[in-house]
Amino acid sequence: MTDKANTTDKVNKAKAMPLNARGIPASRLVLGCMPFGGEWDHSPLTEERVKLSEAAVEAALSIGINMFDHADIYTRGKSEEAFGRILKSGSGLREQIVLQSKCGIGLEDEELPSRFDFSRDHILASVDGSLKRLGTDYLDVLLLHRPDPLMEPEEIAEAFARLKASGKVRHFGVSNMNVSQIRFIERALSDRLVVNQLEMGLGRLDFVEETVRVNQTRGADVHFSEGLMEFSRTEQIQLQAWGPLAQGKFTGRDVSGEPEPVRKTAEMVRRMADEHGTTPEAVVLGWLMKHPALIQPVIGTMNPERIKACADAEVQAARMSRDDWYRLYMTARGD
Ligand SMILES: NC(=O)c1ccc[n+]([C@@H]2O[C@H](COP(=O)([O-])OP(=O)(O)OC[C@H]3O[C@@H](n4cnc5c(N)ncnc54)[C@H](OP(=O)(O)O)[C@@H]3O)[C@@H](O)[C@H]2O)c1
Repeated sequence: MTDKANTTDKVNKAKAMPLNARGIPASRLVLGCMPFGGEWDHSPLTEERVKLSEAAVEAALSIGINMFDHADIYTRGKSEEAFGRILKSGSGLREQIVLQSKCGIGLEDEELPSRFDFSRDHILASVDGSLKRLGTDYLDVLLLHRPDPLMEPEEIAEAFARLKASGKVRHFGVSNMNVSQIRFIERALSDRLVVNQLEMGLGRLDFVEETVRVNQTRGADVHFSEGLMEFSRTEQIQLQAWGPLAQGKFTGRDVSGEPEPVRKTAEMVRRMADEHGTTPEAVVLGWLMKHPALIQPVIGTMNPERIKACADAEVQAARMSRDDWYRLYMTARGD
């Protein structure tokens, strides 16, 4: 290879989304499968939910989404079960997708309180449960869902090493964690953490405020890990955004009772979508995706039309001017 080709390759690699740079062929958009199972009670999975989930997966695949986000607790396991049914019926689908799940939260039950649990045995048992419900031999990515104050990095490392050695999990990451927690866990691991999933978007601006409000007294109102955006870029950790559509606040949900910044932002999103011949969903996601951390939005809609309305997001991110990005940010921020 020539020097020139080498340089080009390096530049392209630098521009690649962190998961892709690590050789994981994930799409930029991820479908969040939290609602697939329906109710969060102990009722069984219904055929109707399986059909709705199937339609959501089909819509996602039709716009090039190949990564799907789960957690062991979503609708008490029913969401993974519904996805397992889809995998069983779709020939060869498992090999075409990047499957992610999470562990580490225990839901309140008759005898147990709500809790976090990063113990070795909980992690191992949780993955076995997810694999069984999903009907697959492996997860592409496993995330620790929310920080457990009782965590011991060595115990996590032992669980991860066993899961990797047995082929049950290929890559590991975290969710809702700050810089110190990532460093603390990583010191015991043999592999790097590849993902951190947090709430980010036009409806939850702390990830931008944290960068902007250094040395401002109002910085105390920001609830985001100091330096996390820059740390993630330096360390090539894939940031994933949950809540990226702000539950529809800017894309068509009735917001007549919402504060002025929400109403004004929704209006601005609609105007920009009309100007550029695209959808409000693509504008809202495009705003998030313009951030140079190359964030992966984890969209949570199950509505096939809304999923398809996200198709143009990457194009909108590429064409969005700095001025429009700041217009949306300042309007959503409200001052
Ligand atoms: N790591 C974590 O701690 C964490 C926490 C929460 C979620 N997650 C993951 O992130 C995914 C997405 O989270 P999210 O659901 O908060 O994200 P979201 O994509 O911002 O919101 C999706 C929700 O908004 C509704 N919605 C979207 N557009 C709408 C519109 N125009 N009108 C009315 N309703 C609209 C959807 O309903 P319809 O289905 O009817 O469209 C759905 O209930 C989850 O599925 C899960 O995988 C992770």
